[in-house]
Amino acid sequence: MAKIAFLGMGVMGYPMAGHLAAKGHDVTVYNRSAEKAKKWTSEHKGRAAATPAEAAKGQDFVMACVGNDDDVRSVVFGKDGAFAGMAKGAVFVDHTTASADLARELEREGSKLGLGVVDAPVSGGQAGAQNGALTVMCGGKAEVFERAKPVMACYGKAVTLMGEAGAGQLTKMVNQICIAGLVQALGEGLAFGMRAGLDCEKVLEVISKGAAQSWQMENRGKTIIAGKFDFGFAVDWMRKDLGICMAEARRNGARLPVTALVDQFYSHIQERGGGRWDTSSLFHLLKNK
Ligand SMILES: NC(=O)c1ccc[n+]([C@@H]2O[C@H](COP(=O)([O-])OP(=O)(O)OC[C@H]3O[C@@H](n4cnc5c(N)ncnc54)[C@H](OP(=O)(O)O)[C@@H]3O)[C@@H](O)[C@H]2O)c1
Repeated sequence: MAKIAFLGMGVMGYPMAGHLAAKGHDVTVYNRSAEKAKKWTSEHKGRAAATPAEAAKGQDFVMACVGNDDDVRSVVFGKDGAFAGMAKGAVFVDHTTASADLARELEREGSKLGLGVVDAPVSGGQAGAQNGALTVMCGGKAEVFERAKPVMACYGKAVTLMGEAGAGQLTKMVNQICIAGLVQALGEGLAFGMRAGLDCEKVLEVISKGAAQSWQMENRGKTIIAGKFDFGFAVDWMRKDLGICMAEARRNGARLPVTALVDQFYSHIQERGGGRWDTSSLFHLLKNK
């Protein structure tokens, strides 16, 4: 069993750290607002620490799942940051969805201290984190990844090394680009079906057995029809992710016309007060009054 710190007791980090404790690992958690860490220790076997550095001290692995690039920097660098507490040979795993540049920066700074670093964004949402069934896309050195893989397997059903530092984040960008256009198309199809007077539940039943089938159709089709948008991954997070994708595309020359358009649709959702609605809320812009 390993000694592990987990930084960030959010929607994702809280259950992920719970799986580590349930598998018998020695877990220390840190959260910026201390009450969430306290709640976690009341429900799981493990300790809470006051700073990332304190949490990271003496651990074999330090996992993080916070918000964006700057949030990761604030729990990693500086005198209270995780790197200040980690011993040579320990491994830092970042599950935050962030830029590939940040992943490379973490590896560069970590290697100066003799630390291993893996960028490891996840897909599968809150349900995937709770059920221990996340897809984990990793970047980093093969030897470091192999050490961290059994730990990540506590909450990941597929844990795959995609390439060097940043490759996990780049793979997650592909994931988000694929989702953006698909969710818009699903909303357009259902809005069209409603205006055409079709029974859209029945439409879903039929077309989900054919070529239009998708995870979004299976998992969000019915909730879209019901006008419910409270099922996980929030619009605010999606806009953060699409911003990362478009910044990367400006560098590598990829064209993302549909992604850019869908990002604008999400900004309309935010204006409607839907920043915390789930990503299928694009339908809100298309539905009948
Ligand atoms: N939710 C999903 O379905 C999902 C799916 C895949 C990937 N992700 C990605 O996973 C990451 C976490 O998502 P989440 O849904 O767990 O978010 P969340 O519930 O909002 O939790 C964010 C966590 O990060 C901490 N944090 C944020 N900024 C910080 C800072 N500057 N310093 C220290 N701690 C900070 C927060 O602490 P406080 O409690 O103090 O605010 C909280 O523990 C994001 O990158 C997101 O894009 C989420």
